Amino acid sequence: MKVEIVAKRLEEVTADALVVGLYTGETKLPERLARVDRAAQGQLKRVLDLERFTGKAGQITHAHTDSRRIVVAGLGPRAETTSEVLRRAAAAAVRRARDLGARTVAAEVLGDRMTARQRAQAVVEGAILGTYYFDRYKKEKPDKTISELRIVEPDARRAREAGDGARRGESFALATSFARDLINAPANDLHPTDLARAATELAKEPRLEVKVFEKAECKKMGMGAFLGVAAGSEQPPKFIHVTYQPSGRPPAGRKRKKVVLIGKGITFDSGGLDLKPPDGMLRMKYDMAGAAAVLGIMRALPALKASVEVHGLIAATENMPSGSAVRPGDVLRAMNGTTIEIGNTDAEGRLTLADGLCYANTNIQPDEIIDMATLTGACVIALGQLCSGLMTNNQALANRLLKAADAAGERLWQLPLIDEYRENLKSEVADINNVGPRGGGAITAGLFLKEFAGKTPWAHLDIAGPAFSEKDLPLAPKGATGYAVRTILTYLGD
Ligand code: BES
Ligand code: MN
Ligand code: ZN
Repeated sequence: MKVEIVAKRLEEVTADALVVGLYTGETKLPERLARVDRAAQGQLKRVLDLERFTGKAGQITHAHTDSRRIVVAGLGPRAETTSEVLRRAAAAAVRRARDLGARTVAAEVLGDRMTARQRAQAVVEGAILGTYYFDRYKKEKPDKTISELRIVEPDARRAREAGDGARRGESFALATSFARDLINAPANDLHPTDLARAATELAKEPRLEVKVFEKAECKKMGMGAFLGVAAGSEQPPKFIHVTYQPSGRPPAGRKRKKVVLIGKGITFDSGGLDLKPPDGMLRMKYDMAGAAAVLGIMRALPALKASVEVHGLIAATENMPSGSAVRPGDVLRAMNGTTIEIGNTDAEGRLTLADGLCYANTNIQPDEIIDMATLTGACVIALGQLCSGLMTNNQALANRLLKAADAAGERLWQLPLIDEYRENLKSEVADINNVGPRGGGAITAGLFLKEFAGKTPWAHLDIAGPAFSEKDLPLAPKGATGYAVRTILTYLGD
């Protein structure tokens, strides 16, 4: 979908469909829409009256004129305008326009609260994310798609602001779609090698560099935890390190901030010898959603001109059972020398992340680390499908992430890293066990990671719930959501 800004009045733009918004209580058409209505011979007003359109958030209707469709989206009460209301309104309206057969859509910068920049960003995000589809493996392709989105803002100054916002929204949405495509790809078509290739392709972008470490190099670095997980798979593991270097120098007297992002990259999680039951295994191609998010984020940084140095790390492997697989009771040695008893081979994500954290602390020494991982079923039990768990050793970092998630419209809720639970990870034979009891499983996993984060400010996002949806959502069809991409881009862009 091509996105452009048009500095014209609504009734003057040409497109197959026009998308406009109405707040609740706007019973009399505001002047800008009254003009659209006049140009449409009163057809807009007639439909709104006929359908008793109240402007409730989520409400959508449309009118036909001789030359085009007009889609009206309810925006709810004006005082309750948020970016998320606008995203969802744009998503639903553009889907309606598409289903009516429109190929080009002109949309006003919905709403009149907040800045034009924020609103345009929300509209573009909603339009792109709300019409995302994944048809790579289907013979039949959708015949109805939107090729062009024109964002309409008559005021020249505000049109410039809206242009900024639209470009930002486009970057955010394309980064998210990129992640969705990787996650939706089946595990037989997305091995660690394919993740590494996707990362390598990113290096074509300016200011991005990629280094992929093969198994032998990982062994040399001492990544025994990561390689323990990989031991049961026929697919070679890859340790991926993507670097984004901002252009120019940091402001005088200031050190540039260095952030490490680590994504869990298990391209398929069978559970290993502690094999998952069929129901639990079915969706496990998406156990690399954290890794996909990291790649999506890295890809967007050059266009967003982010001013921080960002490193994306992925310890990519499958978790498979075989004669060479790690066994329950085995002891592995992580890169920092910590020995880990394998209490359960299905608690593999934390093992790969452990070596990622060690690598970050040894080779990058960042100011902060954020990891994203579909880590525990327990987190889904605790917070459900629509919310991620946040755990941290640094409250200030957590607060900034909570704020970013709120702005991005992604739900995030902090879970406490209760010190006393650390004893649940005690091992008779090694420094630490990789599993604890069932209760508080998301927290135990967090405590395990905390051991490897050391003193570096670190935050852990357990995205097991929202990374994937079993049903259509306002901003995503059933399948991968690309969760965390927009939160982290918001965070890094501020
Ligand atoms: N990838 C799973 C976590 C998961 C489960 C994500 C369900 C999404 C939905 C992870 O590797 C795993 O298997 N975790 C185990 C840990 C347990 C063995 C301590 C779990 O949550 O059951
Ligand atoms: Mn597992
Ligand atoms: Zn897993």
